[in-house]
Order: sequence, then C-alpha cells, then structure tokens
Amino acid sequence: MSSLLQELEQLHREAAAALGQASTTPETEAWYAEYLGRKGKMTSVLRGLGQLPAGERPPIGKTANDIKVALELALQERQSALAESDMARALAAEGIDVTMPGRRPQIGSLHPTNQAMREIVGILVQMGFQVYDSPEVETDDFNFGLLNFPPDHPAREMQDTFFTTDKDVILRTHTSPGQIHAMRQYAPEPIRVILPGKCYRKEDVTARAEMMFYQVEGLAIGRTITFSDLKGTLLNFANQMYGAGRQIRFRKSFFPFTEPSVEVDVDCVLCGGKGCRLCKYTGWLEILGAGMVHPVVLKNGGYDPAVFSGFAFGMGIERQAMNKYGVDDIRLFYANDVRFLARV
Ligand code: DAH
Repeated sequence: MSSLLQELEQLHREAAAALGQASTTPETEAWYAEYLGRKGKMTSVLRGLGQLPAGERPPIGKTANDIKVALELALQERQSALAESDMARALAAEGIDVTMPGRRPQIGSLHPTNQAMREIVGILVQMGFQVYDSPEVETDDFNFGLLNFPPDHPAREMQDTFFTTDKDVILRTHTSPGQIHAMRQYAPEPIRVILPGKCYRKEDVTARAEMMFYQVEGLAIGRTITFSDLKGTLLNFANQMYGAGRQIRFRKSFFPFTEPSVEVDVDCVLCGGKGCRLCKYTGWLEILGAGMVHPVVLKNGGYDPAVFSGFAFGMGIERQAMNKYGVDDIRLFYANDVRFLARV
C-alpha cells in the first residue's frame, strides 16, 4: 500500500478520535479548520498527490474523497448531538417544568364585616327599609341630647366617647343619631330606614369590645306602628339571618331613646337552645337592642307623638357575624390575619 494511503488512513483515525473529544460547537469548528479546512491536515496530505505517477492518483483521490465525506458526515452528527445537549442543558437550567400544575391565584374576598353588613342590609331592604347615610362625626347633641340622654344621666356614661378638640364634636358612639337626621329630613312623612355604619368607643379592647365597630340602626315611623310590628320585623330578620324556624326572645331593658326598651336574643345557632360554649350555656345569643321610639325623640325629630309612633333597633354587625360563624373574639376582625379573613 502506498505511504500516502497509509497517511490518509492514519489521518482519518486521528480526525475521528479528535472529533470525539470536541465537546462544544466552537471546538467542532476548530476541529474542521484543523482537519478539513483549506489550510488543514487533509489538504496538506493531498499535496503529496501531485508527486505520484498519474495512474496511482485516481484510487487515492477517491479514498481521500470518501474519508472527507465520512468526516463531514461525522461532524454533522456531532454538531447536532451537541446542539441537542446544549438545548437540554439550557432547559434544565431554566427549570421550567411545563407538566407542573399551575399556582392557584390568590383572589381576595370581602371582609367578614362587609359580608355580614351586606347580608343584613339585603334582608332589611327586601323587607322595605331604605338605606340612609348619616355622618360618623356628630355633635354631642345628636349623639346624646336629642336622643333623650339628660346631661348628667348615668346612661351617658354607658358609652365612653372620643372627643375632638372641639368638646361638642365627637365620633359617634352608635348609629342612633342618624335617627334624628332621617326624621328631620322626612317629617311628617312615614319612614322606614336603616342606617349602617362605623361607630367608635373609647373602650379597653377586649374579646367583646373594639374601639371601632359597625352597627346597623333601624327606624320605622308611622301613624299605626306598634310593638308587634317590631316583633314581627325582628322575627322575620332572625329567620332570614340565622335560619328558618329560629325563635327570638325579648328581655326588658333600658335605652333613653326608646320606651319600652328591650334586648333581643335568638336561640343558639349552634346548639338550638340546649346550651353550649357559644351561648355560654344559656341557649340564647344576644343580637340587638330595640324599642318603641321615645315621645321626646319623636318630637326632636319633628313628629307629633300624639299622632305618630315608631320602633327602632340597633345591632352590632361584627356581633351578628360572631353569632353566625361562632367567632369568639371581636379583635379577630381587625387584626388582619388572612387565615381568619379568608375563612369566615
Ligand atoms: N344605640 C344602642 C347601642 O349602641 C343600640 C340600640 C338600642 C339602638 C335600642 C336602638 C334601640 O335603635 O332602639 O347600644
């Protein structure tokens, strides 16, 4: 065998081995230049071809060409294998697993107080009450005086008040002052309104008391309104709010702006009246205060108490949510713990 042929075969083996070592695309390009390029080893071996007798050239030329084709093919395979593994490495590094389940988006929900408020307002509106907006900042007179709290009456001390720098301007301690606003706007027409909103009391914060909370006030005034209208309204409310078949109970009470006054309980939503932790083993949950509008309050609102009568009620909104969902600490409503906010 001619030495040129041996040289070619030697070059083939060497080139094939070197290609196996090229582990990146730029290395394969360098390899091409080294072996198959115009200044590469193959070209320089073939330079010896010219020295051979003409008859020996064709078979060697053919072998050289076959080797070249074989190496080019091997290069292509190597390059596409490398491209594939480059891609696989990049994908792994980016860490996208398209088979992974998506993350559930965290969508918000209404605050528990708002949920309860909307439910309460919805029930009462459906019964014919209109929502009446009244201010959170009140005068001492609207919050107390016009509601028949005498200046030094002990009832006034029931509510510790936030005052502004003006001693007469306060944050309302209940939604009842809205009764006077509504009456003065509508007198002498009959009215049926509810007044939802924020109230403030300067109290020690405990499981049962917050400094800021919500109430819904109700007020109905007409020529023939009686205590049984109050009773029917509240029984209907309790059945819609706490479930069909609920019982209510009236206990005598005192509020300066109503006479007679009552506190109203519903039979416990958890034990149905048998007694449990939620109702403190009484079988009853307190839901609101109510009564017949006091003649003095009717007069202050512009109604003649000889002609008109009315009932009123006031309930804490968080209190309703606590009863309904078995929450035992009002502070949870405003502590902003998402576990509570998302669960109720
Ligand atoms: N304003 C009272 C309070 O905050 C609740 C209340 C009781 C409102 C009796 C009323 C009512 O309208 O008739 O404790």
